Amino acid sequence: MVDEFNDLTVMHDYAWTLILRGTVDHKSPARHPTFGTIGLQGMPELRTVVLRQADQKSASLEVHTDLKSAKVKELKSNPNVGIHIWFPKLKLQIRIKAISEIETGETVKEKWNKVPKGSRISYGTEPIPGTPISAPFIYEKPANFDRFCVIFLKIDEMDLVHLGVRHTRALFAKKDNWSGTWLAP
Ligand SMILES: Cc1cc2nc3c(=O)[nH]c(=O)nc-3n(C[C@H](O)[C@H](O)[C@H](O)COP(=O)(O)O)c2cc1C
Repeated sequence: MVDEFNDLTVMHDYAWTLILRGTVDHKSPARHPTFGTIGLQGMPELRTVVLRQADQKSASLEVHTDLKSAKVKELKSNPNVGIHIWFPKLKLQIRIKAISEIETGETVKEKWNKVPKGSRISYGTEPIPGTPISAPFIYEKPANFDRFCVIFLKIDEMDLVHLGVRHTRALFAKKDNWSGTWLAP
């Protein structure tokens, strides 16, 4: 019997369906992936982000952030990114390795225009995110287009683990044209 988790092509397509759902369904676990970078001292850095766009054909994802956030400094030093999503009801883990590209300014103006006004305050916190402050609310959040930053992720590898009655694990790589390989789970 072929189901989502015992056929490589079906499993890969299914994972993409779930990822895509995250861009539109606020309740989907794929809405809030964990985004991993390599810190400037070589230690891993993890944080939650919102998945803004996803496209299977180009194997790409899109995340928005503040240009002055620590993650942007880290990506300029090392563009490698890890993405992690766990779907508890489906018992499926998705792990992604990707290379990031950062875009700001006029090339992302159209995307900025689509950011709801109330959400634009996520881009422009003063003092800049991560700065020590003397009390919890000693900061301002003006909307600042100059601080709006789009992170494009080009996926290299996707590792899927399904904890069914019998566990399955598969690796899909760009270099293999996403044909996929079963792995011991
Ligand atoms: C549910 C949730 C969604 C978030 N979405 C984003 C996001 O889309 N972009 C972003 O830069 N930070 C987002 N954050 C905040 C980050 O997790 C993180 O705290 C912030 O970006 C600073 O990270 P950095 O100092 O490592 O750059 C989100 C946090 C939560 C809890």
